[in-house]
Amino acid sequence: MKEILKLEDISVGNEEVKILRDIEFEVKKGEIISVVGESGCGKSMTLRTIIKLLPKNLKILKGRVYFEGIDITDLDEEKMKEIRGGKISIIFQEPSSYLNPLFTIGNQIEEGIKDRIKKEEKKERVMKILKEVGLSENVYYQYPHQLSGGMQQRAMIAMSIINKPSLLLADEPTTSLDITTAFEILNLLKDLVISHNISIIFVTHDISLARFISKEMIVMYAGIIVEKGFSNLIYSNPLHPYTKKLIDCLPEKYNKGERIRTIEGEVISFKNLPNGCPFYPRCEEKKEICEGFLPKEIEIENVSVRCFKYGDFMES
Ligand SMILES: Nc1ncnc2c1ncn2[C@@H]1O[C@H](COP(=O)(O)OP(=O)(O)OP(=O)(O)O)[C@@H](O)[C@H]1O
Ligand SMILES: [Mg+2]
Repeated sequence: MKEILKLEDISVGNEEVKILRDIEFEVKKGEIISVVGESGCGKSMTLRTIIKLLPKNLKILKGRVYFEGIDITDLDEEKMKEIRGGKISIIFQEPSSYLNPLFTIGNQIEEGIKDRIKKEEKKERVMKILKEVGLSENVYYQYPHQLSGGMQQRAMIAMSIINKPSLLLADEPTTSLDITTAFEILNLLKDLVISHNISIIFVTHDISLARFISKEMIVMYAGIIVEKGFSNLIYSNPLHPYTKKLIDCLPEKYNKGERIRTIEGEVISFKNLPNGCPFYPRCEEKKEICEGFLPKEIEIENVSVRCFKYGDFMES
């Protein structure tokens, strides 16, 4: 299958901090890929790099971003604006903070339409999209506060697909929802991949959601990819000690009455990144070499992993 997006050896930061290092992955056409990791590990920054909405003090230090086969790394802001909300769209965790309370849902979705078409045609397109995301026509006339959280997220999804994007970046879109509503939204995203032939990057801190929604996943820690490959393989046989911990700490892994487990220690500060593996201070399987050197990505049975457990492979 052809790839729609490719990140090639991306590093993001400035003279003082490196937030992302050596990020490399592909998104295939019509597929969902998940990016998983704890808070602060660089998930949103990865999405921001793709659409070039980085904080002012950070920039792409090396690497390239290819979208639909074209190198978009150095595109100017005007061209990026066309792509954002057009061929690449984004949805966020908190729909309520992105919907304007003063305008109806219909009005807001219509506003986003980039094609120059007549008002009636716009309305028709919005009505159709509302139906596709599981909302009634009534919602067109309603204001955000009249909708539940799940309905608001559906409205955001409608807004994000109104210009027929080929790539949707979904940044923790279900975090603020209850679990049933979250799964409804996940199913909707899965359906959209088929009905609209779009690709999705799904960002989540929950590795079980990632397994549910996507065939492939990327596990990030402190700005590097520690493991990537098929979700089922990674979930059933995690290779990296960090991925193992993420799975161990899932609520469904507990026996009744057991204390809630967390990964001990804190996510490392980007200001004091060690030379070696960033997970080293928290890792229960560390070796001496882990402190001083960053392991290279190696491939083991269709999964790639960055850990010295599997051999002393270093960047040359
Ligand atoms: N402008 C900035 N300058 C320097 N560091 C920054 C800046 N903005 C964010 N960071 C750091 O970049 C790191 C990655 O942030 P990012 O928002 O990508 O995390 P995340 O994985 O999306 O976390 P969360 O799950 O909490 O959303 C964080 O540790 C954050 O402190
Ligand atoms: Mg984030």
